[in-house]
Amino acid sequence: MNAQVVNARPSPVPSPMILLGVNIDHVATIRQARKGDEPDPLRAAHECEMAGCEIITVHLREDRRHIQDHDVHALARFSQARLNLEMGATDEMIGIALALRAAGAAGPQAGPQMVTLVPEKRQELTTEGGLDVVAGLAHLKHAVTRLKAAPGAITVSAFIEPDARHIQAAADAGFDACEFHTGAYARAFALAGGDTSLGTLAHELARIADAGHRCRALGLRFHAGHALNYQNVRAIAALPGLAELHIGHAIVSRAMFTGLRAAVTEMKRLIESAGT
Ligand code: PXP
Repeated sequence: MNAQVVNARPSPVPSPMILLGVNIDHVATIRQARKGDEPDPLRAAHECEMAGCEIITVHLREDRRHIQDHDVHALARFSQARLNLEMGATDEMIGIALALRAAGAAGPQAGPQMVTLVPEKRQELTTEGGLDVVAGLAHLKHAVTRLKAAPGAITVSAFIEPDARHIQAAADAGFDACEFHTGAYARAFALAGGDTSLGTLAHELARIADAGHRCRALGLRFHAGHALNYQNVRAIAALPGLAELHIGHAIVSRAMFTGLRAAVTEMKRLIESAGT
């Protein structure tokens, strides 16, 4: 369901629905440990969908350390949820996204409905920081233009720090959405024991709230993600105007003990109960 459609209802106004994107890269990481067939990311996607997740996210990295090209093809074709393809803004990745979307427009495949552009370093364990949209403006503008010209169109999101300069640059580059990096918030939350009245945590939460306000004022969708978990998600989910949350590690970790469907169901429940 489109969050803006929900928003447009007359009063009494229900809480706008926050879409949950589940990042299933870790499922492929386990499979790649033996380079076999299981666990299968497509099966994982179906379990997430059964629990009501709206978006499946995978990061096709240049080094193919977890998700493989055939995973992206299978998810683009068979996932019921929308596919969000995380990738570096390289010619190779843009070519893959465009080819998938073209196949989707011509046939039953859906293709990636969204691309989230992220910075990518070979040595990093996970995406470490946000995109430098200010320094990379010309290159990113070109990448966004190519992706948005895809048949059926692709929503393009920028993974950035909650920083006014990068938000303005993301708008200038033509992005549709900003996903704000919540890593600093998550670290502050852990240090403060979740007490949002404490200085650093209050400051980090206010930075995300302010960034959300700024990006929406520029007409962009407000997304957030990275290092969110079952403890720290509610304060972020309560921020005004938030449209999407993207969460991977905490959900897949919990799924080891509860199963993926239960882990996603509980995260959805926490998000939906935020602000109440
Ligand atoms: N959003 C983006 C852009 C990411 O790169 C990642 C990590 O792959 C996530 C969200 C999810 O982060 P985590 O796995 O810490 O929940």
